[in-house]
Amino acid sequence: MDSLNNNHIKLIAISFASGACITYLSMKLFSTNNNDDNKKKQLSKSSSILLNSTSSENLDTPETFQTAGTHLLDWIINYRKECRDLPVVSTVKHNYLKDILPKEAPENSESWNNIFDDLSTKIVPGLTNWQASNKFFAYFKPHSSYPAVLAETLCAGLNVMGFDWIASPACTELEVVTLDWLATILNLPEKFKASSPGPGGSVIQGSAGESAIVVLLAACLRKASNINKSKNDGTCRRDKMAVFASDQTHTIIKKACRILGLHYVEVPSKLENNWAISTYDMEDAILKSKNEGGYIPLAIVGTPGTTSSCAFDNLSEIGKLAKKYNLWFHVDAAYGGAYAALPEMKMKFNGVDLCDSFCVNAHKKILCPFDLSALYVADRHHIMKALSVESEYLKNDASDSGAVVDYENWQLPLGRRFRALKLWFVLRRFGANGIRKHVRKGIEYRKILENLIEQDTNEMFEIAAPPSLSLICFRLKNRSEAEHKLFLKELKQTGDCFIIHTKLGGKIVLRIACGGIEQTEDDVINAWNVISKLAYKLF
Ligand SMILES: Cc1ncc(COP(=O)(O)O)c(C=O)c1O
Repeated sequence: MDSLNNNHIKLIAISFASGACITYLSMKLFSTNNNDDNKKKQLSKSSSILLNSTSSENLDTPETFQTAGTHLLDWIINYRKECRDLPVVSTVKHNYLKDILPKEAPENSESWNNIFDDLSTKIVPGLTNWQASNKFFAYFKPHSSYPAVLAETLCAGLNVMGFDWIASPACTELEVVTLDWLATILNLPEKFKASSPGPGGSVIQGSAGESAIVVLLAACLRKASNINKSKNDGTCRRDKMAVFASDQTHTIIKKACRILGLHYVEVPSKLENNWAISTYDMEDAILKSKNEGGYIPLAIVGTPGTTSSCAFDNLSEIGKLAKKYNLWFHVDAAYGGAYAALPEMKMKFNGVDLCDSFCVNAHKKILCPFDLSALYVADRHHIMKALSVESEYLKNDASDSGAVVDYENWQLPLGRRFRALKLWFVLRRFGANGIRKHVRKGIEYRKILENLIEQDTNEMFEIAAPPSLSLICFRLKNRSEAEHKLFLKELKQTGDCFIIHTKLGGKIVLRIACGGIEQTEDDVINAWNVISKLAYKLF
């Protein structure tokens, strides 16, 4: 299909829901020249030729790269506008791609035109449209701003590695500087900053899950060397070391414990505590596992902004407990950490100065696409001791001098991307003020929903947990668990609103997470209209 020269690209969204292939959308999408409003540039003849050409040497020239790159940027812009009209959750069946893609990679070069056509007709139907800010209210979505999208391209374009300082000094040094900038924006303690005189520091990890593995390994090393100086290799009876968290702590911690062979103790949270950790229950659990189970208390995890309901654990209280039992205190602020940028949220983060490590995902609320998890530690030496392996082939004078940061010693893999570019672009384009505005917008939108639920005079809905951050949790009043499941299923099938559920106190709770970068007040109101209309239709 010569789609780039046609005004209309036929987007074939493939749904096998009824066993048949249904072509249900034929839209003016994803074409650089679908210019109803005459605002789009027509592809020049030469560009068109370039996009149709194949490469005999399997190499793109700078000219084809530029033409295809320009086309791709236009494509992304169009996608982000037009995906608002697509079903938010993909309706394709399992293995749909296997059935429509060739069995093998092409033997010879294909034209960019063919590749872009397939992108629109084969890949887009299989997307759940996270950028459809009018319909996507599930999970906590990554807020992918254009500066960060450009930085991702730059990262691939530069393609430098930053495993040690000499591998690309700018890669390491920009990370050090931007993480300090972020720490200032988030009002984090000075002890985490590279620019402070202490042993603190920070590193970009791929995810909060990776951060958890890294810090728990460091905690093992610290504990092992405390217990037995001769056994400071981190292998000291890990199965006897216990990590304490609540049933609202994200399962990344459980997984990290499984990977590291640590004992995981999950303490139930309660409604009367608004689903936050009860430090009394936590202390009981510590004593019980120590006295009855013979476990060595190793670490405790606090979450300011839990995944289910954005509950806030009391970091000051947990910090005191950590001190009393000599525990590593990790704060998983993967989602909630961004809100520390707001002066009005300061109280919620009291006690953060007591933690050994603090992790915040810039890829959740800080306008970066996945993967950018900022990990701050009070003492970098524990991590470095846990993860440094001296490879002969990487030895160099800069590292030997001890004066530089070698991030390979702070992470699980060796290789690392220039991810700091994303943060640098974002922080410079938005500024601290722009970040605060964006974060605050999510809270404002949540308050709109809160009002709408409260104003529901027919009392179809009830708020199911204290509204917090950009998240509202609700239930259908007097409806069974089965009815909640039915409602969620039907809502998904509308294609007009995507939310997910969680469980609090064993009961299903529906969650709406607001605040995408392109989201508007109208989007939030419309989403609620879809939800309430369906509820009234069903019940
Ligand atoms: C509190 C919390 N921790 C961790 C995660 C997982 O983050 P990642 O995918 O970066 O491992 C989430 C995801 O929503 C979260 O809310």
